Amino acid sequence: MVAFTLNGEAQTVDADPEMPLLWAIRDTIGLTGTKFGCGLAQCGACTVHVDGIAMRSCQTMLGDVEGATITTIEGLSGEVGETLQAVWAELDVPQCGYCQSGQIMSAAALLTETPKPTDEDIDAAMSGNLCRCATYHRIRAAIHEAADRLEA
Ligand code: FES
Ligand code: FES
Repeated sequence: MVAFTLNGEAQTVDADPEMPLLWAIRDTIGLTGTKFGCGLAQCGACTVHVDGIAMRSCQTMLGDVEGATITTIEGLSGEVGETLQAVWAELDVPQCGYCQSGQIMSAAALLTETPKPTDEDIDAAMSGNLCRCATYHRIRAAIHEAADRLEA
C-alpha cells in the first residue's frame, strides 16, 4: 500500500511499488488528464508535480512517492495554475491537445520557480515537453502572457 496526497486529498494505492505512477493515476485512480506518450521520460505528456517539482510520471515509480504531495492537471489551482489555464484557452494554444496537460504542468512549475522567465528560460524548462502539432510559439507566448498577468 502506497499513501500520498493527490490534488489535496489523501490517497492510497494498493499496487506494486515498481508500477509507474502514471498507471496508478490513470488506471487505478481514474484521472486521465495526465497522458501516456512515450513511456520513456522523453515526451513530457505524463508530467505531474511531485512536491512542486515537474516530474515524468511514466518513469516515477509508485513506491517513490510514498508521503509525497502530487498534483495532476485536474488539481492544478492557485494563481499560477488558474492564470495559465485561462491564458491557454484565450490564446488557443492547443491543437490536438494531447500534449497540453503536460505542457501546462511544466509551465506552472517554471512560473512558480521563475516568475518572469526569458525565452531562454522557457526553452530550457519546456524542452522536455514535445508537441507533434508544433504549438511551441503559442506555448511560449502564453507563458509570457501569464507571467505579465501574474506580475500585474
Ligand atoms: S509518457 Fe512520460 S515522458 Fe513520455
Ligand atoms: S497540441 Fe497536439 S501534440 Fe501538442
